[in-house]
Amino acid sequence: MCGIVGCILNDKKAAPVLLECISKLEYRGYDSVGIATVNENTKKDSTKKDSTEKDSIEKGSVENSSIEIKKDSGKIKEVDEKVHLADMGGNIGIAHVRWATHGIPNKTNSHPHMDNSGKIAVVHNGIIENYSEIRENLEKEGYKFKSDTDTEVIPNLLEKYMKKGMNLEEALKEALKIIKGSYAIGAICKDNPREILAAKKDSPLIIGVDEEKGEYYIASDAPAILNYTNNIIYLDNGEIAILNDDGVVVKDSNDNIVDKEIDVINWTADMAEKEGYDYFMIKEIHEQGIAIKNTLVEKDNIQDIIANIDGNINRICFVACGTSFHASLTGKYLIESMAGIPTDVIVASEFKYSANALDENTLVIFISQSGETADTLKALRKANETSKTLAIVNVLGSSATREADHVIYTKAGPEIGVAATKTYISQLICIYLFAGLLAKNNDLLNDLEKVPDYIEEVLGNEDKIKEIAIKYKDAEDFFFIGRGLSYPTALEGALKLKEITYIHGEGYAAGELKHGPLALIDDDIPVVVVVPPGDSYDKTISNLEEVKARGAEVIAIGPCGDEFIEEEVEDTFCIDKEVSEILAPLVYVVPLQLLSYYVSVERGLDPDKPKNLAKCVTVE
Ligand code: F6R
Repeated sequence: MCGIVGCILNDKKAAPVLLECISKLEYRGYDSVGIATVNENTKKDSTKKDSTEKDSIEKGSVENSSIEIKKDSGKIKEVDEKVHLADMGGNIGIAHVRWATHGIPNKTNSHPHMDNSGKIAVVHNGIIENYSEIRENLEKEGYKFKSDTDTEVIPNLLEKYMKKGMNLEEALKEALKIIKGSYAIGAICKDNPREILAAKKDSPLIIGVDEEKGEYYIASDAPAILNYTNNIIYLDNGEIAILNDDGVVVKDSNDNIVDKEIDVINWTADMAEKEGYDYFMIKEIHEQGIAIKNTLVEKDNIQDIIANIDGNINRICFVACGTSFHASLTGKYLIESMAGIPTDVIVASEFKYSANALDENTLVIFISQSGETADTLKALRKANETSKTLAIVNVLGSSATREADHVIYTKAGPEIGVAATKTYISQLICIYLFAGLLAKNNDLLNDLEKVPDYIEEVLGNEDKIKEIAIKYKDAEDFFFIGRGLSYPTALEGALKLKEITYIHGEGYAAGELKHGPLALIDDDIPVVVVVPPGDSYDKTISNLEEVKARGAEVIAIGPCGDEFIEEEVEDTFCIDKEVSEILAPLVYVVPLQLLSYYVSVERGLDPDKPKNLAKCVTVE
């Protein structure tokens, strides 16, 4: 996830406006920031800048006009302090915040990217899937690439077509014919100094229109530009927009002008960071479908890793903390049952207290959203001494990604809410891909594509979970039970509840209750039973009956149309019956996340910032 903005202004300087707008998008990426402006007839004297600032400035060719770029890695505030982003000439420009996908977060990989001749600058959000092929072809034609990004092919393609006599618009249309993947693009060119071109496919992009002033904007989302205009045009997939002093023209992929409606939105600028959601957590719960789609792109990387290590591995050992530990537990069930490789799961903070019997034939898999969890890193360093290591991590460039032998990225995007939600789902997707590829289980691999739709169905029934949350918000204890693959789901449901509602929640293997905890069950305690269809169904229903017989208030998360559950249980949340037992961990956890979220909100708490907890735990 990256953020882009752009503006065409009249008398005002563009850079301060771009800086303000892009700051509203920092939640979309904080690896780097950059601004490009068009200076008409400018020949800036860069010798007057101090050396750090000079180093972060790229100058395009200077004739009648030029492109000036300032960019660097780091948060907006840090980069601004270093290079004074607002201090750039020109009334037109584009800006970008990066959440790195291709290429580490450094200055070279920061956007905007320029073509070889230095006349075009481009910002991009999305992934160009066929960029290596395009890059190879361009390299054969003599183009040189500075960065490791997928984006850099775009300005060079534009330049290539412009060299053949096309204007910027024609060049963009030509380039889009060969680009595969997702994009929201903003492009400026020194030859058309008062024009911005924009294009969109599967990444968000809107146009802001201030007809009165004759000023126009592009942005990844509306809140970024709300301080300047509330008049928004929503671009559709395949459309391009040409913004210049005459206004905005939108064209479809057949080059027809589209008569777009201008929506007047009544949002306020301070909603920017949460995209209209009350809290990051609920926004992130809603982003799980897209997080899955983005993470599924890791399949080829995972296949390569397996090809590299398979054959030498006779044991797998997962190491992680908290939610990442629960994802790991799911991995044990999947890998052992599908690939037959003995698999252990160790809490990272306990790793050093056991010999763990690691050797060169053990693959140790570290799962961590942040890639910086001290317990996990400590264990990783120890495992590196004896075994092959693999890190499954969300934060690009974090320590775990640099220290493990192999890396798989969960492409969930930045997660701001302290409680892990979309990153848990993305971790699970990585594990499912790993296990499915290891076991060559193509049916499972194909079924993963359906999960985003199942999650959308759950989110469509959010109100039902909210009702249950309101009913039980004052409970003092909860139990969550499940069997097999649903046992880690129960643990995760209990953890979410504890961390954001401060209610005591216990996750238990449903069959374990009778070995002790059943003594605690009485009519004050809600028991959430995770009961998908499949092998574990009958036994879990027996456990449900046991707690019900002891007076517990049962909340059942089960398949839709299940007559027993519908008749016997008062509070139920049903999941599409097509969701099989093996896919259940990816879907059944969503109502549990929502339950905790709504209990937290109903208790007047801030689910994004639970007390005593931090997003990244860097102490042991
Ligand atoms: C729970 C949660 C924590 C983390 C744990 C590990 O919602 O977020 O339990 O899962 O602190 O963090 P990472 O995954 O960054 O290593």
